[in-house]
Amino acid sequence: MKEPEESLKKIARKHKPVKQYLRIFLERYEELFLTKRYDKLIILEIGVGGYKNPIKGGGSLRMWSEFFPNSTIVGVDLNAKELELPSNVNFHKGSQIDVDFLNKLSDKYGHFDIVIDDASHITKNTIITFEALWKLTNQYYIIEDLHMKSSEGTRQHFEKIHGADFNTKNLCVIQKT
Ligand SMILES: C[S@@+](CC[C@H](N)C(=O)[O-])C[C@H]1O[C@@H](n2cnc3c(N)ncnc32)[C@H](O)[C@@H]1O
Repeated sequence: MKEPEESLKKIARKHKPVKQYLRIFLERYEELFLTKRYDKLIILEIGVGGYKNPIKGGGSLRMWSEFFPNSTIVGVDLNAKELELPSNVNFHKGSQIDVDFLNKLSDKYGHFDIVIDDASHITKNTIITFEALWKLTNQYYIIEDLHMKSSEGTRQHFEKIHGADFNTKNLCVIQKT
């Protein structure tokens, strides 16, 4: 008999991503992504974790790697990282507001199926990143942690974007139609 598949929550318990609203974000992610789990996707997460510590962070990349075993997970952080990561994860050092860098990433990987912005949570940065990457996004663009002080204004800005939903607390999900 086939082993039951591990839920995203169970996978997250192993890898301990630092997503602030972990439980509710994971429930939403599972709802959005379960049917795509074995697809061959290109997933970009900006904000790897661990800030200036090169050997800290990577929890969410490891979680996505296990949940999406056939996908390529691209992790970006402002700070250099020396992490041991699974073979379907690639790390790139760069800033979320460096549009040239973001374009070069897309030259390398193609369009991203899913983009998750869990980086600086500064409204003006979040907007720059979205403007650079939305046209390079195939399926979902997600912005985490809208509750942060530095994110004041993010919700108001994205409420004006067609298709943006805020049904999950402190999460903005924008789906390509
Ligand atoms: C909240 S942590 C990410 C946590 C990770 N996604 C997880 O769930 O485990 C935020 C990360 O964003 C990075 N960061 C901050 N400003 C950034 C920027 N302008 N561009 C890229 N990364 C940035 C920080 O270095 C930090 O490691």
